[in-house]
This record gives sequence, structure tokens and C-alpha cells, in this order.
Amino acid sequence: MTPSKTLKKGFADILIGLQYGDEGKARVVDFLAKNYDIIARFNGGANAGHTIETKEGVKVALNQIPSAIFYKDKILYVGSGCVVNIEKLAKEIEKVEKLGVNLKNRLRISCQASVVQPHHILVDAEIGKTVGSTKNGIGPCYADKAFRMYGKRLLNIRLGDLLEDEKKYFENIKNNLVEAAKFYKLKTENPETQIKNLSSAFNLIKEYIETDTLFLQKKVERGAKVLFEGAQSVMLDVTKGSVPYVTSSSTIAPSAFVGGDLSINYYRKTIGIAKAIMSRVGNGPFASEIGGKKSEEYCMANEGIKYNYEVEKKYNVSDFIKSNDDFKIGIALRILSGEYGTVTKRPRRVGMFDLVQLSYAIKLNGVNDLVINKCDLLNEYSRTKYKKIPLVVSYKLGGKKIDYVPGSSDTYYKVKSEVECKEGFNYDISKIRKFDRLPKSLRNLAKFIEEFCGCKILGLGVGPKRDQFIKK
Ligand code: IMP
Repeated sequence: MTPSKTLKKGFADILIGLQYGDEGKARVVDFLAKNYDIIARFNGGANAGHTIETKEGVKVALNQIPSAIFYKDKILYVGSGCVVNIEKLAKEIEKVEKLGVNLKNRLRISCQASVVQPHHILVDAEIGKTVGSTKNGIGPCYADKAFRMYGKRLLNIRLGDLLEDEKKYFENIKNNLVEAAKFYKLKTENPETQIKNLSSAFNLIKEYIETDTLFLQKKVERGAKVLFEGAQSVMLDVTKGSVPYVTSSSTIAPSAFVGGDLSINYYRKTIGIAKAIMSRVGNGPFASEIGGKKSEEYCMANEGIKYNYEVEKKYNVSDFIKSNDDFKIGIALRILSGEYGTVTKRPRRVGMFDLVQLSYAIKLNGVNDLVINKCDLLNEYSRTKYKKIPLVVSYKLGGKKIDYVPGSSDTYYKVKSEVECKEGFNYDISKIRKFDRLPKSLRNLAKFIEEFCGCKILGLGVGPKRDQFIKK
């Protein structure tokens, strides 16, 4: 047999989030997609919220379909490392097709991807509370993947199983629901109805299931260029992130080849996405959080509050931003940068740009190219007590300097962040499209970050719109 190395023709790049999610990965995928033939997801499921914009400025939020929907000739692949919510996927396909986008023969979903079953969602609503999960059943689904079976009953059911024998495996899914509800003492709506709805949705997505388990491999062997699109981010990785306040899949770059169904021979490079004002949803350590523990408690206690709540409560943003109290500055920055969950509208905790955490993520993933989004918002710091741009440049633990993210969340909470302020700017840069037109202070900051993290910057985001991006 010919060794696969001699077959080399195409390649695969990986794009991942380097912080706590919501770094604006989708808009970068959308921007870069023209250079690739296939955009592939390798982890996560409907917990991801990837927002892109049409040319006319209409926003589309995608959860399970890869972000390059507007490029007609690109294949959209969902790998075996993903978990599929069939009903939500059927709705998402319908929504995308209503925009005039044809997904037939373009969207391919691995038959080895696991199905998010009704009991996963039921159990997640209960068990996922302390982590602050998105309630999409992601944790229980990946847990069942590891559990595999209970007696003769399959706990992990994959799309291929349903294709093989619908009757048998929908019955199995129903039993899983009944047994889980009993075990966890949870109330559930009529299992028959739930299975009926699931089965109708399955009929709508069936044609997109790919049964050739070497589908992607064969395409790349023939020369296809792949961009792996990561969901969630490094700090939410189930092993390397701030465990247990993480998602349940592996979000880091090497996982792309496992969950994305391609041999590692085709690896070319990794692109990492960060944002200049950081955010995090859910519990867990966040060393550069503006307003510290108070902000975490406030955001978590008010999980249900909406953007409108903070605005309607008539928090005076101009007063808050000038406050001496970091907690108030954090609220003002959240309102100004619109940091609320795409679907849930949960307030996101906001933080300063943490270069120690960023360096960790860059090293861990071997990032070659860095993109920094939300640079336009850095001008807001000129109105704060900091005047300049505050950056976390070192961590101290028990008085000793460390250059890594601690391996225990309890330890991470004890880290003292040291802040250094760099020269900022006080005007709107959102209309600038050329790097050399940016304020000198921002160009110097970019240089400082490149040197600090040992990674070159590929581009800077200066606004949420498709074209508000500056290639360096
Ligand atoms: P789960 O992935 O729904 O189990 O949620 C686990 C943790 O990951 C929670 O803190 C979520 O808020 C967080 N999380 C999951 N998906 C995303 C995402 O796409 N962006 C940001 N945070 C996420």
C-alpha cells in the first residue's frame, strides 16, 4: 500500500478562539473562506453561536453549520467530533435556505457524529447549572459517548446508527429518555411526542449525512484546501481550559484532525483569534476581569437579565465609564461593546487584554497567525481612570511570577494579575482600512503584542461588519 504521505496534494489550516469564546471567529472564517475549498467543524454542537453578515448587512447566527454559507462553491463539513442536535439543525438548514443559500451537495455531516438526544438536554438543564452551560445537552452527550452502553442499551447513538435502523434506534432514544428521567428524578414531556418530532426532523437532514468515513481525507488527497473552524475556545477546552468551567469537547488545534476526520499529514498552520477587550460567559476564573469577583457574581446572579435591563435601568454609561469603581467601568464596557450572549442574551463578564493567558494559548496551540478583534473599542479606555490601554503582563502566585495558566481553577482564582498601561487613542478608528493609517499608539501596541507573544499579527478587527477588518 502506498504510504499516505506520498499522496500529499491539499492541506488543512486550523482557526481557533484563543480566549473564552465569542472572539469573533465566524467573521474571520467568512473573510478567509475564499482561500479554501472546504470549511469544516470538528467539535461542539448547537452551543456555538457564530454570527456572520450578508453583503447587505443582515446578521445570520449559525450554530451547527460551518460559517462559509455565502460562498456557493465551498463544501461545509461537520466532522465526527461534533454532536448534532437534529431538530435545531433542520431549523437552521431551513433558515439558511430561506436566505437563498443552497446547501444541497454542499453540507456533509459525518455519520460518526453523535446525536444529542432529548435526555441529554433534560439532564443538562439540571447538571449544567453550576458550570453555567448553554443547556444544549452538550456535556451529557459527550459523557454518553464515553459511557458507550448501559447493558444492551446504547447510550451513544450516532447519525449512522439512525440511518442503519431508524425504528430500533429511535426506540432506544426513547428508552434513554425514560430511564434518565427516572434516574435523575426529572419531569419530561411526553416521550412519544418528542421522538415523533425528532424523527420528522431526521427525515429533513438525512440527505446531508455522509456515510463515507474517508470523505474529507479523499478530497484533500485530491488537492482540496481545508479550513477547520473551531467552536468555543482554548480556555473552554475540556482538558486544557479552566476545568471544570469549560465545555465538554476538545477545542484546541490538534483536535481538529481527530474530530475533523483528516490525517495529520495535511497540517499547514494555525490561525488564532483573540479580542482586545475580553469576555467570558458562565462561571470560572477570569484573571483580567474588570470588577473582579463582584462582576462575576453580578453577571451570574443576573443570568436572566437582558441587554435591555442594563440599558433600561438607565445606567449612565458616560458616568460609569469615568467611575473610580472597576465594577462600574466593566458594566459600561459591556454596554458599549454589546457583550451579551447571541442566543441567551446573558451578560458577558468583560476583562482587560490578558497577554499572559494569550501567550499560553499561542504556545499550547502553536499559533502562527494572530487576529485581534474589537480593536476599535480600545478608544473607550481614554475615558476611564486608566486613560491609557491596560494590559495584563504578568501573573503572580504566592508572590512568585509565573508565565503559564495554572492547572487548577482554585489556583487560577488566586493569581494576582499585574497590569501595565500602554499609550492609547481617543477617536473612532472603525472606518480605517489600512494598517499604516491606524494611530501610531495602536501600531506600537501591535508590535508589543507580537514580541510579547512571539507570534505575528495577521489582522485587526475594527468593527463587527464584514469589511471592518485590517490585514497587516
Ligand atoms: P456547554 O458547552 O453548553 O456545556 O457550556 C459549558 C461552558 O462553556 C459554559 O460556561 C458556556 O457558557 C461556555 N460556552 C459554550 N459554548 C460557548 C460559546 O460558543 N461561546 C462562549 N462560551 C461558550
